[in-house]
Amino acid sequence: MAKPLTFTCTACGVGASKWSGRCDACGEWNSIIEEKPLSASGPASKSLGALRGKPVPLSDLATREAPPPRTLSGMDELDRVLGGGLVPASATLVGGDPGIGKSTLLLQAAAKFALAGLKTIYVSGEEASAQVRMRAQRLGLEKAPVKLATETNLRDILTTLEAEKPDLAIIDSIQTMWADNVESAPGSVAQVRAAAHELTTFAKRTGVSVILVGHVTKEGQIAGPRVVEHMVDTVIYFEGERGHQFRILRAVKNRFGPAQEIGVFEMTGDGLAEVVNPSALFLSSRDKPAPGSVVFAGIEGTRPVLVEFQALVSPSPHSQPRRTVVGWDGSRLAMILAVLEARCGIPFTGLDVYLNVAGGMKVSEPAADLAVAAALLSAREDVAIPPDTVVFGEISLSGALRPVGQTENRLKESSKLGFTGAIAPAGTKAAAMAGMSLREVSDLVTFVGETFGA
Ligand code: TYD
Ligand code: MG
Repeated sequence: MAKPLTFTCTACGVGASKWSGRCDACGEWNSIIEEKPLSASGPASKSLGALRGKPVPLSDLATREAPPPRTLSGMDELDRVLGGGLVPASATLVGGDPGIGKSTLLLQAAAKFALAGLKTIYVSGEEASAQVRMRAQRLGLEKAPVKLATETNLRDILTTLEAEKPDLAIIDSIQTMWADNVESAPGSVAQVRAAAHELTTFAKRTGVSVILVGHVTKEGQIAGPRVVEHMVDTVIYFEGERGHQFRILRAVKNRFGPAQEIGVFEMTGDGLAEVVNPSALFLSSRDKPAPGSVVFAGIEGTRPVLVEFQALVSPSPHSQPRRTVVGWDGSRLAMILAVLEARCGIPFTGLDVYLNVAGGMKVSEPAADLAVAAALLSAREDVAIPPDTVVFGEISLSGALRPVGQTENRLKESSKLGFTGAIAPAGTKAAAMAGMSLREVSDLVTFVGETFGA
């Protein structure tokens, strides 16, 4: 008989039969703890049940069920990330580091949804009602028609929700909830899973929209939000760099809208303010040409966002030169350095390389390859890319450049922000735009030769 899985990773929830220092599934260190698996409730019934899950033709559903009516909060940045408003009976997870502003965001959202006509209950398991009220005062929301409950017992919460029949219930946070039929401590993987399961099934059964808050945890004993990602319809992460006041709300999974959609906020003295034009925010002042700085015309979800890549290349005093990346993928940087060296004959050996995305933004699009290469070369050669030019395009290992999608959106946004030129791969399909010139390059070698004369 296989050994029972009595160990669980608190970061990703995967079970293991023995303890180890590092989770094989997600690579997290010190996240594996011993925990009893959830016991099944009673032996499985032998006879087959009535025909409950009777299949119906897909075409029937389409005619019978209209798309769910969504509610807009009026916070555009939030509504867009939700996929165009809040869907009834949906379960949404909002994850993020402690202190990033999840409770602030959700209290503001609760007030907005309540004003939009949803009966809203905010359940806080972390703060006393006086604390939540103080925060509401600070945010100028003390008059909002939101009901507040401070409770951690899941059974009590579900009873309250059954009785109150709200349209929206916000649970802050899922790690503080505990189900009394589960033996382990609050915050454990079993508890967090059980609570999330109960709350999501409650949402489906009653039509109440549920928003769960989950802390991203660093130390092992508390389960992280990834443990419940698969149970909910929408997974949103609230990100930001310490020292930056910008916060980015990012949909990583959404059954009701596009994933990777972002909303941008700024943390101010009285709560989160929406940032309507994030491109302007992520670009530092760019009047003088600066070597190493390149503007990338990116797409986040459905929206174009311009971001600035900054590179610094300097002789290394170390035997192993440094490769430091903030806001982009480190292995992707290594790949581009390798392509520059192998295909263009430009070595970075003996040089420290630093790459940063300005403003605390994180970029994951491969379309940023060419902008990164341009920033690296510009820093290495000490030659600035013209400051009124944006760059985008994917680099393949052969050194060829590949066109990327949504070119017109990228160009439009660039033109809107005063850029007059773009460098992009040959074959980029884009209608000519007034005031915007497009320079097409077929491969990296040509780009390097033309731009840096190397
Ligand atoms: P909070 O919403 O409590 O974070 P989380 O729920 O994700 O743990 O936010 C905490 C931080 O936000 C705290 O450091 C103070 C700051 N803050 C402001 O700067 N302005 C405000 O109006 C509020 C309410 C909080
Ligand atoms: Mg909080």
